[in-house]
Amino acid sequence: MTQEVKVLGIVGSLRQASYNRALMRAAQEMVPDGMTIEVADISKLPLFDEDIESNAPQEVKTLKQQIEAADAILFATPEYNYSVPGVLKNAIDWASRPYGNNSFDGKPAAIMGASVGMLGTGRAQYHLRQMFVFLNVFPLNTPEVMVPFASDKVNGEGTLTDEKTREKIRELLQALAAWTQKLK
Ligand code: FNR
Repeated sequence: MTQEVKVLGIVGSLRQASYNRALMRAAQEMVPDGMTIEVADISKLPLFDEDIESNAPQEVKTLKQQIEAADAILFATPEYNYSVPGVLKNAIDWASRPYGNNSFDGKPAAIMGASVGMLGTGRAQYHLRQMFVFLNVFPLNTPEVMVPFASDKVNGEGTLTDEKTREKIRELLQALAAWTQKLK
């Protein structure tokens, strides 16, 4: 019997009408049997400050606990200036600290991303994969879910309407479940 896979979703956009949040909602709707996806709130995190990391605010403690309690992480990242948005990097930096207490250590992770541009966050996703090396996160390699021209694929209610993209997210979740079981 397949074991339960508890996934923590992290969205790198604070925008209400975010296309990346729409991808995460679609993932929650299409979650395979045995998987749950809870989404972290990174909007209240202060800017990272090493002076306060050993006495971090509650929002940081909550994020670290959520990551540690999860079997796997699912990132949905926009691309800002060819990289991940500062809010996502800030959340990652908090969760990776203090030194020796990296909450991501050893976690499997999958990435998806949507952009209004034609490369669908590819550059940001490869930056995120580079961060995974230092974080000791084990990324799922395929499928890659890079969604270009996102404004044509999400409707006014924030629903991902593009069937091919929905199918790719379904594949990603199934592959993440298998990857997580394999690493356990
Ligand atoms: C962008 N955008 C963008 N798009 C892209 O494909 N490559 C890029 O390098 C950038 N750079 C960039 C920088 C900044 C500061 C902003 C605000 C935007 C456009 C981006 O794809 C678009 O705003 C998406 O809608 C962001 O994702 P959410 O917020 O919809 O999830």
